[in-house]
Amino acid sequence: MSEPIPPSRIPLSVTPTFSTAPAEPPIAFGGPERYDDDVAAALAAEAGPIVARYPQSRSALLPLLHLVQSHDGYVTRAGIDFCARTLELTRAQVAGVATFYTMYRREETGTHLVGVCTTTLCAVLGGDAILAELTDRLGIAVGETTDDGAVTLERVECNAACDFAPVVMVNWEFFDNQTPESAQQLVRDLRDGNPVAPSRGAPSLCTFRQAARLLAGVPEQEQR
Ligand code: FES
Repeated sequence: MSEPIPPSRIPLSVTPTFSTAPAEPPIAFGGPERYDDDVAAALAAEAGPIVARYPQSRSALLPLLHLVQSHDGYVTRAGIDFCARTLELTRAQVAGVATFYTMYRREETGTHLVGVCTTTLCAVLGGDAILAELTDRLGIAVGETTDDGAVTLERVECNAACDFAPVVMVNWEFFDNQTPESAQQLVRDLRDGNPVAPSRGAPSLCTFRQAARLLAGVPEQEQR
């Protein structure tokens, strides 16, 4: 039987490297620390039936994050605190989930969230050109909101709709086979308040906050 190799002589297959890049700033949430009592009571009334659907209350965290996002337009410190208190979690646990999924936003959102897919297939078929057109026409960078508060523009990853590339999403509804011209018309209609219809699914488009309420599981008859 051969002698065991001392740890110090085991060859390393990967040479450790150490980054000298400055550390990323910690992820922070904005907005007020706590909801006013009346807002907290209204949210609690809507959260109750949602939480009751799950054998373990913590399983309701994803819908509750959508619920607070529907109130604020993004996930605020108050939203984190509300979810933590309601589900008996720590704020760190809630924040860990809220920062993992890109559907939870940390900046204020316009009436409509317009996402342009720039993953490979959409990008080469025109997604990059659409994004360039929209940033140019709207005069905003990715992640920003137009002055009238109507449109927040963002870049999204593949939505498994590659058959219909290039794809634009508005409040998570699909607008397929877009061109720079059609996307420009789409945001113009959104800003003008003209009705627009997604390519499939819902017959009409709701706002970002209404979409968040639907994702939270608030019954349709209780939609605002
Ligand atoms: S690459 Fe855009 S939907 Fe798949």
